[in-house]
Amino acid sequence: MSATIDQPRLSYSNDELLSSHDYAAPHVVAGRTLHGGFLADGTYMPPRALGRVPALKAWEQALRERGGQPFPASSSLLGGVRLPNTEQRLILHRNGITDEFWNMLTVVGKIEARGAFIGLFPVPDLSMYIVEDTTTMGIGHLAGGLFEAHGIDEGGIPAEGIGGHDEMWFAARDLAFGPDAHPDVEPQPGLAREDGGRYLPEVAQEIEDLFSFIANVLIIEFRAEIGFAETQRILRTPGLFGERSDDAVLAAEIVGRIRTDEEIHVRSLNLYLGELQSVTVRTLDGGTIAGASLVDRFWDGMVHWATVEKPRLDAERTRERLVERILQDPDGERILAEFQAAAD
Ligand SMILES: [Fe+2]
Ligand SMILES: [Fe+2]
Repeated sequence: MSATIDQPRLSYSNDELLSSHDYAAPHVVAGRTLHGGFLADGTYMPPRALGRVPALKAWEQALRERGGQPFPASSSLLGGVRLPNTEQRLILHRNGITDEFWNMLTVVGKIEARGAFIGLFPVPDLSMYIVEDTTTMGIGHLAGGLFEAHGIDEGGIPAEGIGGHDEMWFAARDLAFGPDAHPDVEPQPGLAREDGGRYLPEVAQEIEDLFSFIANVLIIEFRAEIGFAETQRILRTPGLFGERSDDAVLAAEIVGRIRTDEEIHVRSLNLYLGELQSVTVRTLDGGTIAGASLVDRFWDGMVHWATVEKPRLDAERTRERLVERILQDPDGERILAEFQAAAD
């Protein structure tokens, strides 16, 4: 790369954005070949970070120089009731109801696998909808490697036997529990927000879809952090995994590597949404509207759904199932009392 510090390069090829470091050691855990790898000093390095990370930095700087900024997603996005919360998960596990945590790790892995769809999102030709030239922005590279890299990070490259985040969760699970500890489980159908119709009716559907897709994925990725922290705390709880304690600590380390990968995702999405706020969008009637006012239109409602309504509905749905599960245990009444006393 010939870029100087003063003028970082703002255009990147597909191959550059998909390029990985020259790892000193591959990432293999519990017999699974996983993405990413280790540098000579032993540090874990995420996959497809060689071109992507410097590119993100350059686009962030350019955005700031134009008077914008990456979208300031804040910790308020992490709110909402949790059921079970971390303490309740520990109570279940200590009382021998270990399938709950096993199921959680399995389900999270399967949901990560579905993230492969990010690479398939139909990015419209932005020059039709956005006044400014986006070819030197992050959003101008969504179809040119960025969404593809993101999708592969989540779902891996199954044809090459390389696991992404899906396999990393399964590896963590199997380290903590040993293989086939419980029957396989599928995610419950996700709760979808009631369709309120178009939020941005004055612009083309394709560009509204891009705005809302990026905002939705940002919220999901940002909130995933809650589950990462919780999982690591459980895996590192002394004595909880008996003779598998050392493996459970390694499992927490795997989750830490997923967390490191996800930093690139959140950083990317903050950049894309900040860029979308900074541009001018063409309206269907031949006029224009500021991207920022389009984001304002839907952001608060989306956050309210994700941090208040959805957690409450999820908790209601889970409470019923969990009470039934706990009462199957011979000591169910006592465990349930302990469980309820630890509620948020
Ligand atoms: Fe992920
Ligand atoms: Fe992600």
